[in-house]
Amino acid sequence: MAAGEVGLQAIRYSRGRLQLLDQRKLPLETIYIDVYDSSGGCLTFLCRHAIQDMVVRGAPAIAIAAALSLAVEAVNLETKPTSLDEALHFLHTRLDHLVTSRPTAVNLLDAATKLKNKTSDAALRTSNAAEILVVYVDAAEAMLAADIASNKAIGDYGADLISGQSKRDGKLSVLTHCNTGSLATAAYGTALGVIRSLNLQGKLNTVYCTETRPFNQGSRLTAYELVYEKIPAVLIADSAAAALQSSGKIDAVVVGADRIASNGDTANKIGTYNLALAAFHHGIPFYVAAPLTSIDTALSSGDSIVIEERSSKELTHSHAGHGPQVAASGISVWNPAFDITPAKLITAIITDKGIITKPEGSLVFDILGFLNAH
Ligand code: MRU
Repeated sequence: MAAGEVGLQAIRYSRGRLQLLDQRKLPLETIYIDVYDSSGGCLTFLCRHAIQDMVVRGAPAIAIAAALSLAVEAVNLETKPTSLDEALHFLHTRLDHLVTSRPTAVNLLDAATKLKNKTSDAALRTSNAAEILVVYVDAAEAMLAADIASNKAIGDYGADLISGQSKRDGKLSVLTHCNTGSLATAAYGTALGVIRSLNLQGKLNTVYCTETRPFNQGSRLTAYELVYEKIPAVLIADSAAAALQSSGKIDAVVVGADRIASNGDTANKIGTYNLALAAFHHGIPFYVAAPLTSIDTALSSGDSIVIEERSSKELTHSHAGHGPQVAASGISVWNPAFDITPAKLITAIITDKGIITKPEGSLVFDILGFLNAH
């Protein structure tokens, strides 16, 4: 995707209207769902359900879709709040509800907190309830634009870092996991944005993407984005990743993040930890690419990150639980959606404000120090 081009869009938004690309149907069908409640019910409840059901997924995309669903609801409200308290109550209770959609990614909590603060601050300056709704809508729309800008910055920082640190003369091959591209963000992507930037700069040989069982975000979504943009790519089974890393073909591993603790421990799609262990063993740099909104400064380590467990059907049935049964009836299942990669295994964190590296001699990152300096 050339700079400025729109490309694939997980979220289509215009003031008063929100459409989500139904990612459960990709790559075979491209269907946009209008997030619209004809019964006069609550649009944010519908959006929360769409997030849980993976119509929209990927930490930044979840945050933006949720924030915009409330913007659309606010614009289309038939009975507008008449007092400041009513307006704030309407916005804040709905944000609280949206935040409970999925537990692991922090981006939605971060967005909701910022939107609450912004509207509470605005309420100190006006007595007009309608104005609070406008402040909310403007702020939610600004998040959409900010995500695209931050992903482009991540892409450029990451491409420079990876090519600068590589020992290989010539084009590089990288391994990635899950889907962190246009489909997981407002556009461009985080880890996949880095890969896009490498490709745009003529530095990419091949990107290897894992299938990312059991939901297959890699084989269905990342592969789809890579083919769509004609980026040289190879799909591998998750179980082939260590063998690939031992083959000498991989110059770097780059993945996204759902929540990064202050020491750099990172929650990301299940299987990320396996990739990091293999990278460590083979001396391959392992990078996490994420916006600052993925950092949870309230957590000192990854120990207290809540890992979402999803339905056993996603494992026992094909097509992410919607196809025929593939596992023996009666088998018990453990289906965590994410795992924690310890900071020790991460070479650097690529953010929209620059690269976070470990202080000399340390096994963990000083993220609070980085944030204070930026
Ligand atoms: O369960 P998903 O598909 O929402 O998981 C997505 C991931 O783990 C991504 O790597 C992460 O959200 C970063 S997306 C830019």
